[in-house]
Amino acid sequence: MQIQKLKTLIVHYLPTGTNSNTKKLLDIFISEIKNKDITEIESLDLLKTSVPIFNEESISAYYKRNYQGLKLSETEAKLLSQNDNLIKQFKSASVIVLACPMHNFGYPALMKAYIDAVVFHNETFAYNQKMMRGKRILTIYSSGGVYSNEKFSFEYPNWNSMSLLAKATFNFMGFDEVITVGTSLRDDENYKNNLPKISSEIKQIADNWFN
Ligand SMILES: Cc1cc2nc3c(=O)[nH]c(=O)nc-3n(C[C@H](O)[C@H](O)[C@H](O)COP(=O)(O)O)c2cc1C
Repeated sequence: MQIQKLKTLIVHYLPTGTNSNTKKLLDIFISEIKNKDITEIESLDLLKTSVPIFNEESISAYYKRNYQGLKLSETEAKLLSQNDNLIKQFKSASVIVLACPMHNFGYPALMKAYIDAVVFHNETFAYNQKMMRGKRILTIYSSGGVYSNEKFSFEYPNWNSMSLLAKATFNFMGFDEVITVGTSLRDDENYKNNLPKISSEIKQIADNWFN
């Protein structure tokens, strides 16, 4: 009998391409999990994906179907079909990795749009239910400055809204574990000082999750 592999979905927005510092960190994670025979990796490149944003029609179809439990016409259902496909893929994974740079102290717009497209009532979250139970989600980012992933306040440098949003949204959805990891590789000094520490943090997460 074949043992079913756990699926890892890697959703990435890396507009600086091969020069991306975030990609360097993501590659550390990928090379660590590739050695493990228990995970199938699926990738979603947000630069090549059309990510829906609610407009008047689609949000009313969403309310009608997902909050009022009403049946949609074929035309209305079509307005949510991109969300439905992304949600199906999101739910098919046991581990989800979001990889992107920090832009303006938070997730870049396209990654936030992706999150908004898959956080759907009665599909990926419901009040007082842990719909994402049994799953884990990791955000990997790089930034110009160095920020805490645990401390948030109005005082600089506790301005990392990626880890705050991840903690709030993904815990609300009921994920078993929500981790955000990232740092600055901005110049030679940051690279030399921060890379060894972040590499071992990323490897540790991969080992904990896949062993
Ligand atoms: C539009 C834009 C906004 C940015 N905003 C921030 C920011 O708020 N805080 C910060 O520390 N770095 C910021 N940076 C720096 C990037 O996060 C940093 O250079 C990162 O390593 C880029 O990742 P990449 O190499 O994967 O593209 C910003 C860069 C750009 C292009």
